Amino acid sequence: MRVIVVKSPQEMGKEAAAIIADGMCSKPHYVLGLATGSTPVPLYNELKRMHKEDGLDFSTTVSFNLDEYIALPATHDQSYRCFIDEHLFDDINIVKGNTHVPDGMTDDIETHCMIYEAMIEDVGGIDCQVLGIGGNGHIGFNEPGSSLASRTRAVDLTPETIRDNARFFKSADEVPKRAISMGIGTVLEAEKILLLATGANKAKAVAAALEGPVCIKVPASGLQLHPDVTYVITEDAASQLTLRYRS
Ligand code: GLP
Repeated sequence: MRVIVVKSPQEMGKEAAAIIADGMCSKPHYVLGLATGSTPVPLYNELKRMHKEDGLDFSTTVSFNLDEYIALPATHDQSYRCFIDEHLFDDINIVKGNTHVPDGMTDDIETHCMIYEAMIEDVGGIDCQVLGIGGNGHIGFNEPGSSLASRTRAVDLTPETIRDNARFFKSADEVPKRAISMGIGTVLEAEKILLLATGANKAKAVAAALEGPVCIKVPASGLQLHPDVTYVITEDAASQLTLRYRS
């Protein structure tokens, strides 16, 4: 695995965007797996800049978001559909019909999740999956205890995640308690994985993911089983790592 340690979130965004742009240039109909949260925002800002100033073309790009809150309409300003439209899609030339976010309002979650997986398969799988990491080591909304073979499904959020995400809502009571998330097994099928982390509050989770045992207590540790993972992390997020890595 590669670990690229950078000085700032902006530098992280540039490193990660360069990796994605390289991939997009080498393959038409590039399939991106996208994450929400504050961490990937500098990446999305850089992709938007590259589109505007360098002509990076998203017209044939397809995307699948990792997750969505259950029972939050796509029009809600904290829905992940709203987030990714606002932080990325509205400012690039991606075709909205080629962008996919799980539907948290579906009345048949199981079928919806099966169809989501089938759509990923139909386009030949995800070329590059972007991930953030939760303070408890979650990826997407795969909370501790998620099977490393899990697929897209409904999940219950832990009290820690609800507390972490309460900053985006008026109160913790308003944070949805459930979500639809791609599984760890789904994520592990991506050709390439880019995990981003910034801030000292992620240092423990990053160290457990990279250097701890592969175990369901730390969902991101499952990435140790993938042959092509690049971590792009700031110095503070890397501060608890003890080994030397290829960058
Ligand atoms: C949410 C998302 C994750 C994200 C995590 C961390 O729980 N489901 O995909 O990685 O938040 O968010 P942040 O980047 O804001 O710390």
